[in-house]
Amino acid sequence: MTDAHDAPVIDTVLVAGAGTMGGGIAQVLAEAGITTVLVDADSGALERGLAAISARWDRAVQSGRCSQDDVTSARGKLRSGSLSDASQCDLVIEAIVEKLDAKVVLFRELAQIASSDAVFASNTSSLAITTLGQASGRPDRFVGMHFFNPVPVLPLVEIVKGLATSDETVATVVTLAERIGKTPVVVNDAPGFVANRILLPMINEAIFTLDEGVASADAIDSVMKLGMSHPMGPLALADLIGLDICLDIMETLHRDFGDDKYRAAPLLRRMVAAGRLGRKSGQGFYAY
Ligand SMILES: NC(=O)c1ccc[n+]([C@@H]2O[C@H](COP(=O)([O-])OP(=O)(O)OC[C@H]3O[C@@H](n4cnc5c(N)ncnc54)[C@H](O)[C@@H]3O)[C@@H](O)[C@H]2O)c1
Repeated sequence: MTDAHDAPVIDTVLVAGAGTMGGGIAQVLAEAGITTVLVDADSGALERGLAAISARWDRAVQSGRCSQDDVTSARGKLRSGSLSDASQCDLVIEAIVEKLDAKVVLFRELAQIASSDAVFASNTSSLAITTLGQASGRPDRFVGMHFFNPVPVLPLVEIVKGLATSDETVATVVTLAERIGKTPVVVNDAPGFVANRILLPMINEAIFTLDEGVASADAIDSVMKLGMSHPMGPLALADLIGLDICLDIMETLHRDFGDDKYRAAPLLRRMVAAGRLGRKSGQGFYAY
């Protein structure tokens, strides 16, 4: 099937990774009436991801943000599955750990299962879409779909065009993003794309500022909220993103630009080594 712009229409999506991002992506797809299969390498994580979506839907009904009928129909569109379900999907959206090797292994496996027409998208925060596309064996049908956390709330999807991504592939995912109520912005492939190239060095600098004793976490966040009108301070935002993810992104920027201005703050490394990953572990720059 094609739409008015001749881009293939997406009916069925496999979301790989049921964590913070994969769960949110699966939720918004199902809410838009798109058949969605959620998979994870860890069955416990898959159960927790589905339970978190279910709890968000229950809260949405209780607060009157949506009707019981809407939630019932969304629930009917979402199920758990395994990688073999990729054979039935028009699109795979990958949202697993921010590690190049893990993503390459997954896309190579998916390439054996999915139809040759299927589009592959990665929700990577910073890894090269061109590199992942080449590894997938379908560089023209490979694209970045970078959603923002929390996915059900934030409107942006940064659509990242790799060197070999076709215009048709871009049109397909732009149409999908609009269909699920998001605002796509198309950018070219470069380390960190636009969002994280600008955001992460700011967060990293806030961590240096904290480590040097210039101000407390609360004071740093207050300065940025009250003086810059940021809705949340950089340290609270780092806790929301996950400090492991922040470190992974800084390492990608440092490696891919080869510029020491992107070196990760030593305190960020220590926090990750201590398992203080932010909200998801209960402790980051703040306690949760
Ligand atoms: N957290 C954010 O704010 C944010 C925002 C935008 C993009 N991202 C990107 O989204 C991706 C996921 O981030 P997250 O915060 O959801 O991470 P997360 O740690 O919450 O979830 C990752 C999930 O992937 C699963 N997983 C790991 N390897 C797998 C594999 N080989 N196959 C299937 N599942 C596997 C894990 O079990 C886990 O459930 C990363 O690439 C990250 O950079 C994160």
